[in-house]
Amino acid sequence: MTRRFQPKDPLVLVLLGPPGVGKGTQGRLLADAEGIPLLSTGDILRGAVREGTPLGRQAQDYMRAGELVPDQLIDDMMADRLSQGDAARGFILDGYPRTVAQVQALDVALETAGRPLSLAVLFEVADEEVVRRLAGRRSCQSCGRAYHVEFDPPRARDRCDRDGEPLVRRDDDRPETILHRLDVYRRETEPVATCFRERDQLAAIDALGEPADIHERLREALTPGRLDVRAA
Ligand code: AP5
Repeated sequence: MTRRFQPKDPLVLVLLGPPGVGKGTQGRLLADAEGIPLLSTGDILRGAVREGTPLGRQAQDYMRAGELVPDQLIDDMMADRLSQGDAARGFILDGYPRTVAQVQALDVALETAGRPLSLAVLFEVADEEVVRRLAGRRSCQSCGRAYHVEFDPPRARDRCDRDGEPLVRRDDDRPETILHRLDVYRRETEPVATCFRERDQLAAIDALGEPADIHERLREALTPGRLDVRAA
C-alpha cells in the first residue's frame, strides 16, 4: 500500500516532465531554499563524461544521440549517490527515474535507505515551448546551471553568474535531437508518471509562466492534500 506523505518526513521528491520543461531550474530553486541536495542524473553523467570516467565513456554516445543510458548503469550510479551522507536529510531527484524499471530500482533504494517518497511532480508544457526553451538554453560547463538567451540571460555575456565559467550549448540541444528526446520521453518516461499517478503520489503542475510563479505552484503541491495545481 502507498505510504502517504507526512510533512515531518525529510523531503524526497521526484521531478518529472519532458526535456527542457524546467526541472533543473525548479529543482535548484527548491533545493537552495530547503538546503537539501539536487541529484540530477544529467549533471552527474555530464560530469562523468567530462572527467572521462568508465561511466562517462559508456554513457556519452547515448547522451549525444538523445537516447537513454541503460538502466543498470543509471541504477548503480544512483544507488551509490543515494548512499552518500548528504542524502540523509532529504533530496530532490531530477531525471530519475525515467523508465518503469528505474521506478522499481528506486523503490528498492528508498526502502533500503528508509526514506519514503514524499511526492513525484510532473511539470507540463506544450512541445513548442520545450523546443523554444532548449534552443535558447546555455549551460555552465562547470556547475551545470542553465540560462536562456532570452528568458534568463546571464549578467555577463556567455559567463555563469555563479562561478564566471563559460556557458555552452549542450550537444543534445540540437533541433533534431530535441525532437528525438521528446519521442523517447513519450515512450519511456510517460509510463513512469502513470506509475506514480496510480499510487496516488503524483502532482501535475502547469509549467508555463515565470519561474518564480512555478516555484510557488511547486510549494503548493507540497502541501499534503493538494495533488493537482494548475495556473489560475
Ligand atoms: P537531462 O540532463 O536530465 O535532460 P532532460 O531531462 O532532457 O532535461 P533537461 O536538462 O534538458 O531540461 P530541464 O527540464 O532540466 O530544463 P531546464 O531547467 O534546464 O538528461 C540528459 C541525458 O542524460 C538524457 O537524454 C539521457 O541520455 C541521459 N540520462 C539522464 N537521466 C537518465 C536516466 N534516468 N536514464 C537514462 N538516461 C538518462 O530549462 C530548460 C531551459 O528553459 C533553460 O534555458 C531555462 O533557463 C529555461 N527555462 C526554465 N524555466 C523556464 C520558464 N518558466 N520560462 C521560460 N524559460 C524557462
